[in-house]
Formats: sequence, C-alpha cells, structure tokens
Amino acid sequence: AAPGFVGDLIAKMTPDEKAGQLSIMASAIGGGAATKLNPVTNTSNVSKQLADARAGRMTGIFNGQGADWHRRLQQEAVKSRLGIPLLFAADVIHGMRTVFPVPLAEAASFDPDLAMRTARTAAYEASAAGIALTFAPMVDIARDQRWGRGVEAAGEDVLVGTRFAAARVKGFQGESLARDDAVAACAKHFAAYGAGEAGLDYNSVDISERTLREVYFPPFQSALGAGAASLMPSFNEIDGIPSSGNRWLLSDVLRGEWNFRGLVISDYTADEEMIAAGFAKDGRDAAKKAILAGVDVSMQSGLYQKHLPDLVKSGEVPMARVDDAVRRVLELKVRLGLFDDPFNRLGPGREQQRILTPIARDLAREAAQRSMVLLKNQGGVLPLKADGAQTIALIGPHAAGPHDLIGPWNVYGDDAQAIDLATGLRAAMRDPARLTVTAGSDVEKPIAGGIETAVAAARAADVVLLAIGESQEMSGEAQSRTEVVLPWPQQRLAEAVVATGKPVIVILKNGRALALEGAVLDAQAILVTWFLGTETGHALADILFGTVCPSGRLPVSFPYESGQEPLHYDHKPTGRPAPEGPRQPFKAQYRTAPDAARFAFGHGLTYGEIDYSGLELGGGKLAGEGLIISAEIRNHGDRSAEEVVQLYVHPRVSGITQPVRRLIDWQRVKLAPGGSAKVRFTITREMLMRLGPDLKPAVEPGTIDIWIAPSAQDGLKGTFELS
Ligand code: IFM
Repeated sequence: AAPGFVGDLIAKMTPDEKAGQLSIMASAIGGGAATKLNPVTNTSNVSKQLADARAGRMTGIFNGQGADWHRRLQQEAVKSRLGIPLLFAADVIHGMRTVFPVPLAEAASFDPDLAMRTARTAAYEASAAGIALTFAPMVDIARDQRWGRGVEAAGEDVLVGTRFAAARVKGFQGESLARDDAVAACAKHFAAYGAGEAGLDYNSVDISERTLREVYFPPFQSALGAGAASLMPSFNEIDGIPSSGNRWLLSDVLRGEWNFRGLVISDYTADEEMIAAGFAKDGRDAAKKAILAGVDVSMQSGLYQKHLPDLVKSGEVPMARVDDAVRRVLELKVRLGLFDDPFNRLGPGREQQRILTPIARDLAREAAQRSMVLLKNQGGVLPLKADGAQTIALIGPHAAGPHDLIGPWNVYGDDAQAIDLATGLRAAMRDPARLTVTAGSDVEKPIAGGIETAVAAARAADVVLLAIGESQEMSGEAQSRTEVVLPWPQQRLAEAVVATGKPVIVILKNGRALALEGAVLDAQAILVTWFLGTETGHALADILFGTVCPSGRLPVSFPYESGQEPLHYDHKPTGRPAPEGPRQPFKAQYRTAPDAARFAFGHGLTYGEIDYSGLELGGGKLAGEGLIISAEIRNHGDRSAEEVVQLYVHPRVSGITQPVRRLIDWQRVKLAPGGSAKVRFTITREMLMRLGPDLKPAVEPGTIDIWIAPSAQDGLKGTFELS
C-alpha cells in the first residue's frame, strides 16, 4: 500500500464503518470448538454474516469453517463501499488439521525450536484455509494445576514461558506477514489469567505489581519482542479492574512502557462481561470503558458496532481514539497483504494440498516423542521388546479408540485422523497378536465387569500397559478441578491391575500435573504423555519400544496432594522453611505432605542412568562480564540420550526476598552411549537482574547459590560472589 493509504482510507470512513472495522464476530459456519468440522449452518445467520460483510459492518470473523466459506465472505467484503477486505482469525492453538501435542506437552520438550517448527506448520495449514490471524500463543504462566487452561500454556516457569512465547510467535508469523503462509500471532491473555483465585477460571486475581512484572509480564514482553502482531486482554480483573477496562494495563504499561504498536483484541464478549463483574453499568458504558482503556477490537459482543458511533457523537469517546484503533486494524491488514490481494490465502485447492502432509505428520510424531516425560522406570522395565518376546496387555480407557488423542482446544483437528495407542503398538510389533486390549473402565465411570476382564488380561500377559488419566474435556477453558487426581474408577482399576503382581507401565494422559497416588505410584514405570495429537500412537510406540529414548522434562511440578496447589518450584523460602529430614513443629509444612513436589519441575528420565559430577565455578566471583560454570554429564546407559541440563540460582540475602531457586538457563545435551560431555554455562549480570524495592531492574551484590541440575529439587550446588 502506498504511503498515506491508511490515513486516506480512514478519512473516507463513516463512524459506522469505523465501528465495523473494530468488531470481529464468531463465524456463522463452523464457528467454535464444539462444532469442529461439522458445520452448524443456521441459514439466517449465514445470510446475515454475508450481508454484514457486504455492508462493512465487521472487520472479520473467527473460527470459520474453511476456504470456501471464507472466500464467499471475502467476495462480499470487496464489494462493500470501501472494499476493505475481511480478516479471518481462528484459535489455531496446537495445530490445524495436523495436530501437535498440547502446548503444555510441547513445553516439556524444553526445546523452543521444536515449538517454532510446529507453529510454522500450523500456520502453513491454517493460512491455506484463508486464516490470517491466530489467537495464539497463550503465554500465561500456570502455577495452579486446578486451573484447566494450563494445558494451553508452557507451564509454571518464567524462563520456559518466555522462550516458548517468542518461538511460537516466530513460528506463526514466519519471515514476513505478507507471505501467504504467514499467520499473525496474538499473545494472550494479558494479564495474570492463570492467577485466578483458587484456580477457578475467570476468577478475580489479587496480585502484587512485583509478581505481575516478574512472573506474568515477561512472556508477553518476549512475545511482543518477537514481533507478535496482536494481544488479547484476559477475562480476570486485577486490583478490582477487569483487564478489558484496565487503562493502566492496556495503555500505560502496554503502549506507554512497552511501546506496543499492534492490535489489542478483546476476548469473547469480555467487554460486555464487565457488566456482570460490576464494572460497567450497561453495554454502552462497557464499550466506552473498553475503548478508552485500550481495547481496539471488540470480539463477538457487538457493543462497538452498537455504541461507538454514538459515543463519538456525544464526545464521550474522542474520534482520535477510534481512528487510532482503526488505523491499527488497517495497518495489520496491509501487512498481511490483504489490500494487495484479499484472496491471497485462498488459492484454489491449497486447503486440501497443504494439510496432513507426510512432512507435517513426521513433525507431529517427533514433537510427540519429545513431549513425553518418563517419571519412573524401576528395574529398567522400559523399553519393551518389540520382537515378540513379550505378550502385552494394554488396559485402560485410553488404550484404544478415536478419543482423547488430539487434546483440548483444537477447532479443526479430526480424531479420525489420529493414531491411537493400540494401532501405534500393533504397527511396531513383530507379532501384533501378542497384544490384548481392554478398557477396564471409562474415564469417569466404571464399566460393569471391566475390572475383572482387565485383571484376567493382565494375568495372561508378561507386561501391562495401563493407559489411564484425564479425558481431554477435563482440561481447557472453564475446566477447573478441585482435586487434581486420577478419577476414582480408574484408580480402582489401577489398584486391581497392579495387585496382579505383573510389571505395570502407567501411560498417563493429562492436561495438567496430577497428584498421583496408591497403585499408580507402585507401578514399575510411569510415562507422562499429556495429549499428543495426530501421531499419538506411533510416537508412544517409538518410546515404549525404545526406538527413541524419552527426553522430556516436567514443565509443572507434580504435587503429593491437590491441597498443595498452587505449587511451583520457585516459591519464596519463608522464615520457617521445612527441614530436610523428619517433620518438625512450627515449620512451613503440611501435616500430611511435604512442602516440595512429588515429581519436581524439570524432572524426567531416559533409558540409562545420567550422572552429574565435577562442578567447576571459574574463580568463584562474578566481577566483570560473565562467570563460567561447568559440570561433567555422563550417560551410563547403552543408548544415546538427550539430557536437559538446568541452571538455577538463589541469592542468599537480598533487599527483596528471592525464590528458593530460579531457572536462569538450560541446555539440551546429546550424549552417546557410555559417553560424557562437559556442559558450560556463562552466568551474566543480566541473568541475575531482579526488580528492586522501587520495581526497577537491579543487580544486588552478595553470595549466590547456584545449581547445575537435572531438576529443581536436585543437582550439584556451588556458590559464588557477585560484586
Ligand atoms: O481465543 C479464545 C480465548 O482464548 C478464549 N475465549 C474465546 C476466544 C476466541 O475463541
């Protein structure tokens, strides 16, 4: 577009057309997760949406059904008075038609580059359906496992969240938004959506500015630093003000401090919800508060369409503010190449050609392999023998069937295209007849006679794979749980199967960290598999039979008991820390559980033992630019392994108390069978920077404990002086 193009266009627009450019609506066809690929075609809604496109009453739609529908709408939009093209948006969270592991699972890879590649592929598929904006990545820190949406996040840690945020933005947006395979990213939900009281979705948040700035803001800064084109405010309030009406958050911090020039798009009816929250008196007041706070585009409520023209006329909202928002929308459409060619992502046949390609499926398999976390492997029960030497009983509600594979919040994925565990195992076995499969229980309901059948199958086998856990509906939006445990019918199943005395390998499906108990912990092996997507079964077989060694690490702490939540490794020390040994009175300890995690953040095994030794801290002082710390990591196993070597710090004394440990870097290291590597980190002042009492970044001199570690509760400890 020529210079001045956007300004000239704005000058020609009526107030109604401007309000239209600031309104995005749910698609009339296929709009919404529940409908997946099955179009819900309400004819009058379809005609209305086509008419709205023709009249310039909306800027675009989201979660629409596909290229044909998008093309029909765009044909109407280009015939509108000013011919402004529509923007097609969607929740492409962890894949489009090829579904990758849920974001929490992918974070377990501790490999941001992997997340960049899966986001790139998701954008490649999504853009072929005309989609030019995704409401992703979700970059909320999730420290409370009761909250269901942690499944869409990168876990509890700030550094992990920050690195994955940038990687995903780069993946979605590619080299240039103008390319027809690029999709604009939207960092969401700003801010502290994961900090809702008691883990309840949408709940109010009571949080210090320090915690906001040190924990919840950095992934957003990282996403915006990587070029995210847009941002979505959260549903929750902070200090009594809902995010969609929060001027401090959306204007002072986002625009003022961070200089963000992109688009702010509200969450679904979030402006209108300020009425129920008691912050706005009616729709008009809500629209006014949202636009004045800094929300550029209103999603689904229709409040901007309805009230903005009048709010401008009455002088309550300056036209300059509206123009500012419209300019951002139009500039994004320019950047996306939509004014040059409104159909640039709608080339004929592309939608079918670009989906579920062998390359995309291979990537889904690799991502799934790297997302699994081996918590326990007693006596080296894993890997299994694929050569037919073992008979295997595959038991549990997740053993077989096209359900709970692609995981929550996937609008376009199709379970029928995904490989279940039984299919994946059979494909890898020399003699598939040596596999028996039975459910034993449903996810939340017992099956009559299920346990008896399961026990008989277990007794007849050499080894049992117990595929248990949450269903995909148990995590995601509005799926908070009070107890983060295995549903009781499956716990009963586990007790009965483990009681047979056969070696049991638990294959856990989960959208959050769980408090595992009883027989599940007694099983010989526990493999956390989250929701792995299209290639679930193949990737599981690769890990179970040892074609690939497990290398994932927990991005969230697994508690002993649900009541420990919110549990995160980087908590503060307290004046009465729990003792290392037996319980003592008047210490920060529960009566029935330790203060630590059962399975720590960062924990994850591979096949064969990995050993850490020889910590070296060059000089023991960080006086100049950087300090080198190193350790020897040895693979005692007879297979190649990948180790995630983690670097944590804790300043002993500080003007503001500091977490007991904080991750400041990590490296993935490849180790040959029996091989070792010297792993070196450079500690810089920047890594040690924290917010001082005045909330300004500062580096405080003093003694600092440091760990090179395989997890947040383990490792080699050293100390250095920071001068
Ligand atoms: O993008 C989502 C958001 O994360 C939750 N509410 C609905 C939006 C659009 O589908």
